[in-house]
Amino acid sequence: MEKLTALCKRRGFVFPSSEIYGGINACWDYGPMGVRLKSNIKTAWMNSMTLDRDDVEPLDAAVLMHPRVWEASGHLTEFTDPLVDCKHCKARFRADEMDIDPTDPEAPCPRCGTKGSFTEPRRFNLMFKTFMGPVEDASHVIYLRPETAQGIYLNYENVRVTSRRKLPFGIAQIGKAFRNEITPGNFIFRTREFEQMEMQFFIRPGEEGRWFDYWRDERMRWYQWMGVRNERLRFHEHAEHELAHYAQRAVDIEYEFGFGTDPWHELEGIHDRGTFDLGRHQEYSGKKLEYFDEATKERFIPRIIETSAGVDRTLLTILVDAYREEEIKGEKRVFLGLHPRIAPIKVAVFPLVKKDGMPEIARRITAELRPHFPVFYDMGGSIGRRYARQDEVGTPFCVTVDGQTNEDQTVTIRFRDTLEQERCALDRLRERLGELITAD
Ligand code: GAP
Repeated sequence: MEKLTALCKRRGFVFPSSEIYGGINACWDYGPMGVRLKSNIKTAWMNSMTLDRDDVEPLDAAVLMHPRVWEASGHLTEFTDPLVDCKHCKARFRADEMDIDPTDPEAPCPRCGTKGSFTEPRRFNLMFKTFMGPVEDASHVIYLRPETAQGIYLNYENVRVTSRRKLPFGIAQIGKAFRNEITPGNFIFRTREFEQMEMQFFIRPGEEGRWFDYWRDERMRWYQWMGVRNERLRFHEHAEHELAHYAQRAVDIEYEFGFGTDPWHELEGIHDRGTFDLGRHQEYSGKKLEYFDEATKERFIPRIIETSAGVDRTLLTILVDAYREEEIKGEKRVFLGLHPRIAPIKVAVFPLVKKDGMPEIARRITAELRPHFPVFYDMGGSIGRRYARQDEVGTPFCVTVDGQTNEDQTVTIRFRDTLEQERCALDRLRERLGELITAD
């Protein structure tokens, strides 16, 4: 993780937030490469939900919502972690994540070693609070959303009616969420401000078994399609005591990140939320959210199957999975083996040297490719250093203009993973790169 964090900074993927002021814990900024990679992830996800199929609609709801939403959703009372403090060194811990029982008088503090020094566990709500308007009193408190899902439930009826949808159908949304996590860390794995990609699929009660399995398998396929290695992905079915307050059933897609005592960690959750959310919003708002089935003349609250993924965690997974080190002739090479469909830059174009008309040809090629692929022109430094920079941002193909180009109108295409090179005629270059980028 240290090596990856350093690479992310060096190559403009992710920077520590507020760095010139010494940083702020668990907050990160995305640089030019990070923004491109994140955008590719989000586009791939939204397309998989709304373009590649015809039963899911997109939505973009506000972060700030009516405070009653969080009473209805159960987050005000249930979205808590148990906290204990060491009375001696004042360190704070999540009681459910400790290797010891903090209520045991012999239990030592993991920080200072003092025995039996813990306070009683108390519930700590993870929602960030702020005030709406100029008056800062209890009646003006609102919350930053801790999940994007609630905005979908509040708009379920709006979307259903305006899109003339019948069950089953889904609503997909990408947006920021905020949680005042007690134990953030592991780079961008757990942060206090993050983005989610959530899809809520509304179904007839009784059909949950089939749809749950369907979405669980679809979501696993998506990560594989993004190039994540299959052997480092697995499912984890939640036991009864692990279930969130809204869930009747939950399966996580886990990735073998490698940090911590258990190297497997949650990447995405697939949840059967039952009729809990729409039922509670109907109860708390007084607005009918029942569905009327014209065919059977039945009226009921739809049941919800949710798929909930983190953008930042997906990005981390993709980077961890792609990070490679190898030694070639005594020299270390670091590269990101990103799938071409997700790589921020698909093609880099270089003149071998800054003379003999090579920069002009390379610039012309760059301009011709730009409308078709994210392309990057570079003529700074030795060719070896230029390749190394592209390897570290995961650019799958580098095109080099050399002395032969003027003679026979060909360039080399260099393959990031194998380091093989092939010569390609200029008039076939765009087509050839297109084949390579879209190949499986
Ligand atoms: N709507 C359901 C929900 O929010 P969750 O399991 O709490 O479920 C879903 O979160 C996903 O959101 C996680 O699998 C993870 O990818 C991402 N996520 C949750 N908390 C996060 C955090 N503090 N930092 C980064 N990503 C987070």
